[in-house]
Amino acid sequence: MTRHTAACRLNSPEETADLAASIAGALRPGDCLLLEGVIGAGKTHFCRHLIQSLMDVPEDVPSPTFTLVQTYDVPAGELWHSDLYRLSSLDELEELGLTEAFENAICLVEWPDRLAELTPAHALHLTLSLVPGADDQRDIQFAWSDPKWQPLIERITA
Ligand SMILES: Nc1ncnc2c1ncn2[C@@H]1O[C@H](COP(=O)(O)OP(=O)(O)O)[C@@H](O)[C@H]1O
Ligand SMILES: [Mg+2]
Repeated sequence: MTRHTAACRLNSPEETADLAASIAGALRPGDCLLLEGVIGAGKTHFCRHLIQSLMDVPEDVPSPTFTLVQTYDVPAGELWHSDLYRLSSLDELEELGLTEAFENAICLVEWPDRLAELTPAHALHLTLSLVPGADDQRDIQFAWSDPKWQPLIERITA
């Protein structure tokens, strides 16, 4: 499969939140977003606003740094938000049920490098980077192989 990429600049935390919300409604069970970037890049900020935009009654969306996974019921189905920074082994992924969730739920994964060979081929990769000298700006790069992501990316980067 060919790998495609696209990129854009996010000028404020609000722009990142708006982008996350505009992606949220397109997600269906079996869709997986893998969020890369250094600590403080905005991975949790992006996930929190994506999840909250899908809630009828806004709830707290804590970072799953210590629990590894937080699950939510959203109109399209179950949503899993995970942070694999502290993952100790690939066996733990199976125990958490994450590999199964890749098939049945909407999954948002921070620190997806920990997935190694279990990285889902159909995922959309998002990489957030800091912009030197601009505390409130980020660059975001999208990369994907599954053609299902094409229309969404065209819409959000138009
Ligand atoms: N344009 C931006 N997009 C996302 N976050 C931003 C932006 N500008 C500043 N920030 C701030 O950067 C921090 C990102 O923290 P967090 O989302 O926890 O990072 P990570 O999960 O990648 O470690 C938040 O405090 C957020 O308000
Ligand atoms: Mg985080």
